[in-house]
Amino acid sequence: MSPDPARSSLVVMGQGYAGLPVSMRAVEVGYTVVGFDPDTRRVKRLLSGDSYVEDISSEVLSAALATGRYLPTDREEDCEGFDVALITVPTPLSEGLPDLSYVEEAARTVGRYLRSGACVVLESTTYPGTTVELVAPVLEGESGLSAGTDFHLGYSPERIDPGNTRWGLVDTPKVVSGVNDTSLSAVQSFYASIVEETVAVSGTGEAELTKLIENTFRHVNVALVNEMAMFASDLGIDIWQAIDAASTKPFGFMRFEPGPGVGGHCLPIDPSYLSWRVKRRVGTPFRFVELANDVNDHMPEYVVRRLVLAMNQRGKALRGLRVLLLGLAYKPNSGDARESPAIVVADRLLSLGAEVHAADPLVDPEYPISGALRVQLTREEVRAASAVVLLTAHDRFDYEMVLSNADFVLDTRGRLEGRNVERL
Ligand SMILES: NC(=O)c1ccc[n+]([C@@H]2O[C@H](COP(=O)([O-])OP(=O)(O)OC[C@H]3O[C@@H](n4cnc5c(N)ncnc54)[C@H](O)[C@@H]3O)[C@@H](O)[C@H]2O)c1
Repeated sequence: MSPDPARSSLVVMGQGYAGLPVSMRAVEVGYTVVGFDPDTRRVKRLLSGDSYVEDISSEVLSAALATGRYLPTDREEDCEGFDVALITVPTPLSEGLPDLSYVEEAARTVGRYLRSGACVVLESTTYPGTTVELVAPVLEGESGLSAGTDFHLGYSPERIDPGNTRWGLVDTPKVVSGVNDTSLSAVQSFYASIVEETVAVSGTGEAELTKLIENTFRHVNVALVNEMAMFASDLGIDIWQAIDAASTKPFGFMRFEPGPGVGGHCLPIDPSYLSWRVKRRVGTPFRFVELANDVNDHMPEYVVRRLVLAMNQRGKALRGLRVLLLGLAYKPNSGDARESPAIVVADRLLSLGAEVHAADPLVDPEYPISGALRVQLTREEVRAASAVVLLTAHDRFDYEMVLSNADFVLDTRGRLEGRNVERL
């Protein structure tokens, strides 16, 4: 049976892209939610009803605050007395290796306030084994309680897709797991109260691997079309037409598109968690991931090379050339520029002496992009640039205006057609 939200309180560790949406949903169904985040600036914004997560509007945030059941906080003491704690903190790479320090720190805080009968769920993406080998001992050490006996513990991968207007937290099936059957049942009951469908797997390792299969699958397939795009161009074949044609097959094919590389918090990072674990535990390299990293990491450099060649044909050198980049986010209609290949393209062009202007109406104007001038997409900007490079195909760009005013467009997203357009 699901817990009664009206009588249960939740702590969500981390109020970011993953943690804020689940906090809002829990408040909506009646839970009392403490959103703990050590980032004081973020907490202040949340308290003033100002959302920084694009899938959560400031109206939704304000409505949650108005219920009196949502408390964003950076004070650990506010975590006292929870029934369920979710851990949604960053799992980045540090010098190419998994960095679980945020998970460890969050687990320590949760452990200090853990009571008998409570339930703790790790949601951060990580390698198989983390919940049992890292989170459980930290929680047990801090609380003096035993996982699976005194408190419930499980893993449930986050499937948030920022900017996706079709699938959200509530209607995307949620994979759930526990360290034993009673923990699984507690974890599943909790999620059944906030999402439409839960999918149970037998252990936390299976749930941890589920997320990595999903992201590695995407990473590898993006690399496959990226590599194909590079040699198709050399063969004088239009990869985009071939992909369109292949996509008419109603079975056995899934569409992936080439681009300037992969970005965001998932694809460039998560598969490396898995390959690190495989290498360490099994002793063999995870060759698909290594190859995919290699191809995808090369794409920004390839984009620059294509631009150099195109300008060369026009008798222009990149040094001193004005280039307008369209899009800095790692994916369309999102303002998220973390790990974005567009930033790598900008840096590379700058190092070659180009004058780089960049337009992205969705990325925070304060986002650090060394040396590139942030501009609005205007007719004047397009006309003044010797080359426009489309890196992120946001719907709100005025493509007609770009096509009718640009000298030359390098389109890395297969969005544009015209006599002045060259596609990747
Ligand atoms: N962003 C996505 O689209 C997405 C999708 C699926 C999975 N994930 C996974 O979810 C996890 C979180 O990612 P995110 O995108 O929400 O990151 P984020 O950076 O947007 O948010 C994480 C938050 O955790 C906070 N934090 C850091 N240390 C903390 C601590 N000790 N206690 C509490 N909070 C702490 C940070 O200040 C930050 O606000 C990662 O493992 C990521 O791989 C993210």
